[in-house]
Amino acid sequence: MEKVVRISQIEKYVGESVQIRGWIHLRREHGKHMLFLVVRDGTGFIQVVLRDNVKGYEEVSKSYREAAVIITGNVTEDKRSPYGYEIRAECAKVISPSQPTIEEELQPDSSVDVLLDKRHLVIRGEKASAVLRYTDKLLRYIREFCVEKGLTEVVPPIITKAACEGGATLFPVKYFDETAYLTQSSQLYLEAVLPALGNVYCIQKSFRAEQHRTRRHLLEYYHFEPELAFIDFEDLIRFAEENIIHIVKRTLEEDYKILELFGVEDLEVPRQPFKRLTYAEALDFFKSMGVVIEPGMDIEESKERMLVDHFGEPVFLIEFPAEQKAFYFKRKETDGSVALAMDLLVPTVGEIIGGGMREDDYDKIILRLKEIKANLDDYRWYTDFRKYGSVPHGGYGLGIERTVEWILRLEHIRDATLFPRFVNRLLP
Ligand code: 4AD
Repeated sequence: MEKVVRISQIEKYVGESVQIRGWIHLRREHGKHMLFLVVRDGTGFIQVVLRDNVKGYEEVSKSYREAAVIITGNVTEDKRSPYGYEIRAECAKVISPSQPTIEEELQPDSSVDVLLDKRHLVIRGEKASAVLRYTDKLLRYIREFCVEKGLTEVVPPIITKAACEGGATLFPVKYFDETAYLTQSSQLYLEAVLPALGNVYCIQKSFRAEQHRTRRHLLEYYHFEPELAFIDFEDLIRFAEENIIHIVKRTLEEDYKILELFGVEDLEVPRQPFKRLTYAEALDFFKSMGVVIEPGMDIEESKERMLVDHFGEPVFLIEFPAEQKAFYFKRKETDGSVALAMDLLVPTVGEIIGGGMREDDYDKIILRLKEIKANLDDYRWYTDFRKYGSVPHGGYGLGIERTVEWILRLEHIRDATLFPRFVNRLLP
């Protein structure tokens, strides 16, 4: 019985005969008597050399790309091969054929819409699959960090009645005789869980009915949200800094091959404290660059990127005008018009983290909910925390796809998403 190995582990088997199971990624005939394949098994890629005296040669030589194969052969180190190792096949078997039409499915100049329609094929590619593999690593690094910090993971509901980020981007769901919504953020639930579990987090889908198409907006995205009790604004910012440092450090330690594939040479572990600008200071910065933003107005996406690209490192924007921010933000003690909010901007993408301190006073949160004309009964489970043992607390949300976009320097969030959802796109 042959030893079945994963391609990512192949270096451990140099000189041995092993079996790999995967798909023909590329094929090239070398004269009449030899075939070069690149075989992919989801964990990696390897070159396979098949001579015509090998059992199964005929079958494989008639196969098209993407045929499923089992190859048995000897592993050798090969510095000339882009994959570093090679398998000299002793036996090959086609498990399932592919079709010649595979060559017409995708072209180097295929349009974005074709690439999105055929995303299920695109993700078989070397770069697209590497992004997905890196996303898995990123999620591990985040969980690792949370475990180190003593946070407990919870799984809040996706279907909810209580809007978190305002009515404009809600997705309604018919819920028998009621209207419910897909969650925009799990934050409110995380707050409610604090007195039960202490510091908590979730990694869960959030949904935003975003009308605009940008390089960083999805309708459905993956959202890491930690929520911390007994903290102040400074503690929260430091926690977010450590979070980013951990992610970058672990990526540099483990994912250098993926970084190399994407040509990322300048990823550095940021140093604490990160640069910080209050909203007011940011407006001064823009003025000095000849860009006028009226006080109180949003700093739009292109401006965010202009600011962060100028500094070339992660930058916190803090202390925003309260009227720009959601109802739950705590206000600055010395200036009630300022929300204790923070956004972390990173080069090339802009905002990847948004969060802040929460209003922990019962009367004030009720007042804010009334201001946004919320039905107080729908939020009782949320406001009760302020009634029964309220504490200063805060948290944030980090967009997973945007973080991948930043780390791998991707041009568009669609490339960081398994099967992205945009306006008018529900397939695949
Ligand atoms: O700034 P946002 O809207 O904050 C919240 O939802 C808070 N309730 C989170 C919290 O405090 N627990 O979103 C947080 C992050 C953004 O910084 C961004 O990275 C990501 O979520 N994000 C999106 N990512 C992709 N597509 C979208 N449409 C996104 N909207 C937000």
